[in-house]
Amino acid sequence: MKVLILGGSGFVGSHLTRRLGREGHEVTVATRYAPGCKHLWVVPQATIRQFDPFDAERLVEELRGHDVAINLVGILNERGFGGAGFRRVHVDLVERIIEGCDEAGVPRLIQMSGLNAGRGESHYLRTRGEGEAAVRAADRDGRVSGTILQASTIFGEDDSFLNRFASLLRISPVLPLARPQAKFAPVFIDDVVEAFMRVLADDETAGRTYELCGSEQWTLAGLVRWLRDQLDLRRAVIGLPDVLGRLQGAAFDFVPGKPFSSDNYKSLKIDSVCRNDGFAELGIRPWGLAERAPAWLQPVDKQARYQKFRRQARRERN
Ligand SMILES: NC(=O)c1ccc[n+]([C@@H]2O[C@H](COP(=O)([O-])OP(=O)(O)OC[C@H]3O[C@@H](n4cnc5c(N)ncnc54)[C@H](OP(=O)(O)O)[C@@H]3O)[C@@H](O)[C@H]2O)c1
Repeated sequence: MKVLILGGSGFVGSHLTRRLGREGHEVTVATRYAPGCKHLWVVPQATIRQFDPFDAERLVEELRGHDVAINLVGILNERGFGGAGFRRVHVDLVERIIEGCDEAGVPRLIQMSGLNAGRGESHYLRTRGEGEAAVRAADRDGRVSGTILQASTIFGEDDSFLNRFASLLRISPVLPLARPQAKFAPVFIDDVVEAFMRVLADDETAGRTYELCGSEQWTLAGLVRWLRDQLDLRRAVIGLPDVLGRLQGAAFDFVPGKPFSSDNYKSLKIDSVCRNDGFAELGIRPWGLAERAPAWLQPVDKQARYQKFRRQARRERN
C-alpha cells in the first residue's frame, strides 16, 4: 500500500512510519522541514517530502498515486489568541486535504483527532470537532472514505507528555497543577499504531470513528505523583483550586512557546476518557501506563536507579 502521512515527522508519525515500513508499505512522510526527519532516513521504505501542506496545488501533486492519506497534523496551542491558529490547522488544512484527495484520486483518508472533539469551550476541541465534521461530510458525499481516530493522551518513551512532566519535576521542587482531578486514560503508542494498521487493513472501517483509551484511568495529579515516584524524586505536586488553575493558564498564555494556556485549561475541564471502546471494536487489548512506562522511566539518582534495577530483577526471578 502507498501511504502519505501529513505530520509524519512527529511522535505518532515516526512510530507509524517505522511500523508501515517494517510491514512492506511504501510511506511518504510529508513535512515542512525535511532535516527534522533525519531519524526516519533509516526506514528504507520511507520517502521524505518537504512542502507546505497549505499549498493546494502542491498538495494534490504530492498526494497523487497514493492509496491512503493519513493526517496527523495538530497543535495543542496557537501562536495568537481567539482560535484562528487552531482553525487554520484543524479545519482549513483538513478541508484542503479532503479536496486534495478528491482531486488526486486518493480513495481513503484517516484523520487523527482528539477525544472530546467538538465538546466544551476550548478552541482546540471546538476546531477538532469541525475538522471531524468535514471528514464525515466528505465520506458521506463519496469524495473520500474517511475514518477518524480519537485518542486520549498518548505515551511512549519519546512522547512529549510524560517527558515534559519529567523535565518539570527534575527542575522544580514544587509543581502546581491546574485541574488536578482531570481524568485521562493514557494510551500506549504501540496500541495507537496497531489501531492505524487495523483500520488500514479493513475498508469496513470507513465512515467510522474510534475512541482510543489505555486500560487504566488516572487523575492528572495521581499520574504526576506516580511519575515523580518512578523517578525517585522528592517533589511536592500541588493541585491548584480552580480559580488559581485558571489564572495559571492565563499567565502562561504570555510565556513564549505556551507550555500551558487558557485553552489547555478549558480542554482539561472535560475528562479525557472514552465513552466507546474503539480498541475493542478493532480487536485490540490496550496496555495501561503502569504496565509499560516503568520499563524506561528510570530514577535520576544513580544509586536509586541501581536499586530499581535490583527490585525489578528480584520481581522477575520470583
Ligand atoms: N500525542 C498525543 O498525546 C495525542 C493525543 C491525542 C491526539 N493527538 C493528535 O495526534 C496527532 C499526532 O500527534 P503527535 O504527538 O505525533 O504530534 P507532533 O509530534 O506534534 O507532530 C505533529 C506534526 O504536525 C506537523 N505540524 C504541526 N504544526 C503544523 C502546522 N502549523 N502546519 C503544518 N504542519 C504542522 C508537524 O510536522 P512538520 O513540522 O514536520 O511539518 C508535526 O511533526 C496530532 O494531530 C495530535 O493532535 C496526539
